[in-house]
Amino acid sequence: MPSSFITTPIYYVNDRPHIGHAYTTIACDVLARFRRLDGYDVKFLTGTDEHGQKIARVAQDKGISPQELADQNSQNFRDLAKTLNISNDDFIRTTEERHKIACQALWTRLKDRGHICLAKYAGWYAVRDEAFYDEGELTATVEGVKIAPTGAPVEWVEEESYFFDLSKWQDKLLALYDGNPDFVGPKSRLNEVRSFVAGGLRDLSISRTTFSWGVPVPGDPKHVMYVWIDALTNYISALGYPNDTPEMATLWPTATHMIGKDIIRFHAVYWPAFLMAADLPVPKRIYAHGWWTVEGQKMSKSLGNAVDPHMLVEKYGLDQLRYFLLREVPFGNDGDFSEAAMATRINGELANELGNLAQRFLSFIAKNLGGVLPEPGTLTTEDEVLLAHAAGMLENCRPAFERQAFYEAIEAIWVVVRGANGYVDKQAPWALRKTDPARMNTVLYVLAECVRHIAILMQPFTPDAAAKMLDQLGVPVDARTFAHLSSKNAMKGGAALPTPQGVFPRYGDPKAAKA
Ligand code: MSP
Repeated sequence: MPSSFITTPIYYVNDRPHIGHAYTTIACDVLARFRRLDGYDVKFLTGTDEHGQKIARVAQDKGISPQELADQNSQNFRDLAKTLNISNDDFIRTTEERHKIACQALWTRLKDRGHICLAKYAGWYAVRDEAFYDEGELTATVEGVKIAPTGAPVEWVEEESYFFDLSKWQDKLLALYDGNPDFVGPKSRLNEVRSFVAGGLRDLSISRTTFSWGVPVPGDPKHVMYVWIDALTNYISALGYPNDTPEMATLWPTATHMIGKDIIRFHAVYWPAFLMAADLPVPKRIYAHGWWTVEGQKMSKSLGNAVDPHMLVEKYGLDQLRYFLLREVPFGNDGDFSEAAMATRINGELANELGNLAQRFLSFIAKNLGGVLPEPGTLTTEDEVLLAHAAGMLENCRPAFERQAFYEAIEAIWVVVRGANGYVDKQAPWALRKTDPARMNTVLYVLAECVRHIAILMQPFTPDAAAKMLDQLGVPVDARTFAHLSSKNAMKGGAALPTPQGVFPRYGDPKAAKA
């Protein structure tokens, strides 16, 4: 059985989860569900990033301990995963013992191999990004405050620090990118990372002494580890590192890290360098998606415009939100979020196109045929063409999923949804009832088989709605994987179908959605 380890970034616990966090997690969940249905042994990890100066400062401002802040907000991310029907197999917190052990073991291994040495750091640091910046990357505001390219203010840091010999890894990193063109996606991000590395690397400061909220450096506990070496290690601490676990052996080399574009440098430069230096395998793929703005504006605390995913689930439905986020914007591109756009997609695509397709013929069968799926007669070319398109969907979705092109997979499914709606209009089974009942039977059967395919493939995106559709087709729960798409498991004429119910209600009035 092929394996796949899929990870979200671990979320900082300084803030409540918003739609940007929900996005990465949902995308990972869709990928994890797709691969499970496709026969992979999947492990899907998410969690929270709890150490570092940013968390320590926010806790101080709130007058609580960093651990209390972490406990509260980690729970918020766990709750969000539940609300979003996320199928994660594990949830890691960087304050857990298993993680500290892994961090210290990785550190010791890097040190023993001569990749860490003690020196002095003097340079700029942005607490908001938890990142170091070179003078040349900064701009000064009118007030004279220097800011990073991300807009985060920087402060001058001068302290004793351990360094990782990143400068020595330039050639090996370039060879890694050149030898594995799929290591980073989309291609534009690979080019960005490649040119950053080609421009030369400086050794990286990986410990701090001016605060203590972090994993202590082994043998020198006045230092805590830089929060990014700590955070990145979560991906292997969850697999049992430093123990020689079966998961480290089989799952680790299959890792797909899904992240936002802002944290590509940490994942595609620092992380593989740490791993190569420790003589551990690098992940298989890193994919950086784009960012959502909200009605044209950056989401930010100061604007108070962060969109709450719980509210959207309540108002529009969970599957509707999952679908919208992956459908609206090609994964990898930036996108603008608006409730009006969401209502339009829900009504136009989920309710009118997919929901209606299933609802119309199923209620017709319930009303006119006593709820029994008819036996098909001889198939016409049009029947065969539609069924062939349905049977070909998986082959079109798979390569799209390999490239995390979720919207392409949805489009491949929608070609069949639209084709099936066109088929209904043309074949008009309702009219055939009087004129040619045998032909009507065939048409209804073909539609049922086509919708079975669509619903099986929609499971990763809209798990509850797809399950309801499959329930209504009478497809057994254990016959819903991609292996069951084969004609061996085709719908059986003569089967009694449960009473149909609509799965995708229309959302009131798209304009009212903004109110
Ligand atoms: N803790 C680090 C990640 C460590 S992974 C070893 C971190 N956390 S974060 O909470 O700030 O961000 C987590 C993810 O949310 C990032 O991938 C980031 O890109 C994503 N997003 C935050 N705001 C976003 C949008 N407005 N739109 C899309 N994704 C966004 O970074």
